[in-house]
Amino acid sequence: MSASNVTKDIFAVGILNPAMRIFDVVMKTEYGTSYNSYVVKGAEKTALVETCHLTFFDQYLENIRQVTDPAAIDYIILNHCEPDHSGVLGRLTELCPKAKILVSQAGSLYLKNITNNPSLPISVAKDGEQVDLGGKTLRFISAPFLHWPDSMFTWCPEEKVLFSCDVLGSHYCEPYTFDTNMAYPAKYEEAFKGYYDAIFGPFPSYVQSGLAKIRQLDVQTVCTSHGPVLTRGCRLEWAMEQYDQWSKPHKNERPLIPIFYCSAYGNTRKLAQMIQAGILEQIPDADCQAYDINDYDMGMLQGLLNRSDAFAVGSPTINADAVAPVWNLLSHVDAINNRKRPVLVFGSYGWSGEAVPNLVARLKGLKSAVFEEEFRTIFVPAEEELQKAKECGKRFAASLAK
Ligand SMILES: Cc1cc2nc3c(=O)[nH]c(=O)nc-3n(C[C@H](O)[C@H](O)[C@H](O)COP(=O)(O)O)c2cc1C
Ligand SMILES: [Fe+2]
Ligand SMILES: [Fe+2]
Repeated sequence: MSASNVTKDIFAVGILNPAMRIFDVVMKTEYGTSYNSYVVKGAEKTALVETCHLTFFDQYLENIRQVTDPAAIDYIILNHCEPDHSGVLGRLTELCPKAKILVSQAGSLYLKNITNNPSLPISVAKDGEQVDLGGKTLRFISAPFLHWPDSMFTWCPEEKVLFSCDVLGSHYCEPYTFDTNMAYPAKYEEAFKGYYDAIFGPFPSYVQSGLAKIRQLDVQTVCTSHGPVLTRGCRLEWAMEQYDQWSKPHKNERPLIPIFYCSAYGNTRKLAQMIQAGILEQIPDADCQAYDINDYDMGMLQGLLNRSDAFAVGSPTINADAVAPVWNLLSHVDAINNRKRPVLVFGSYGWSGEAVPNLVARLKGLKSAVFEEEFRTIFVPAEEELQKAKECGKRFAASLAK
């Protein structure tokens, strides 16, 4: 897509990447993405806000040239230094001899190790500082952890435009700049939520403080770094409300204590059922269901685990380890918000029994509160062992009240 106007003096010069299907290794991007970048023209100076992924340098440069000679750029502002925002910087600065690069304090450190170019003219943009372009001001607002510790917003009060970095963005790609003429709104909403979960799910309190900062401004337009530009009266209010809902501290109505397991011959399953019975005996109103990991959608299980008050996880030992679906589930644990979450580990084994200790080691690595009495049985649990599993579940549930 070629350059387009956001306002009379602000231009979208970013790149669409409809073919992208996986972003940052972990995010599925079914609807592609865009690397949004903006030129802001004042009476005296010109700024470029955000750049682009290196892969698209030539096309990106073409877009910039449609609205300004790169040599005329005075400032390159990076709200965030992840390579989708900063990738072209090395090549671009060769064409912008007078451009000063403005980033947050953390960004200035990251950029050194991302570009490995000590001669780049990097300056720190402190919270509240601003640059005057001549009739257009760009003010920097610290927004840490939205997405990285280096993230910030850039605000242009004269145009009522906020350059929001990854905030309110989406991996979604239609050949339009604005949110006003989307062809597939339901798909956009799905992409918007997926983006929030992957990028901001771990940082709800930072999202709340970012939203509070945005609310203090009289924003008409949010120039995101990915996906459509959001406008007041169209998607902006909706997007802010969604972020607010998703990031508000929430408490489960009933204690949520899911049990996840796999079982080749039903032995670990029997333990899961008895642990469930024990938990429910201790906390009758608990939402405590046992899930065979192979029977459910991983995204659903991941959501349950990360919302839970505590959980149990069980695996048989197969070839000296826990089984792959259990590892896969644990790879989806939100490690930032999982700290201290109580977990009970259990499983049946035949002779060496590595599954349970290996899972315990992993969960301790995630700083979970592993219940001391992990529960293992050899081959088929006898009636007495089943009762012990139930008692273990009961004690685990009792420990949650402490
Ligand atoms: C293919 C296979 C490999 C196994 N490897 C081990 C092992 O390395 N160490 C061990 O303690 N048990 C091993 N076992 C035994 C199982 O852990 C044991 O049968 C257990 O009760 C299975 O529990 P489940 O019915 O919940 O799957 C193995 C079993 C199978 C089928
Ligand atoms: Fe990012
Ligand atoms: Fe980004």
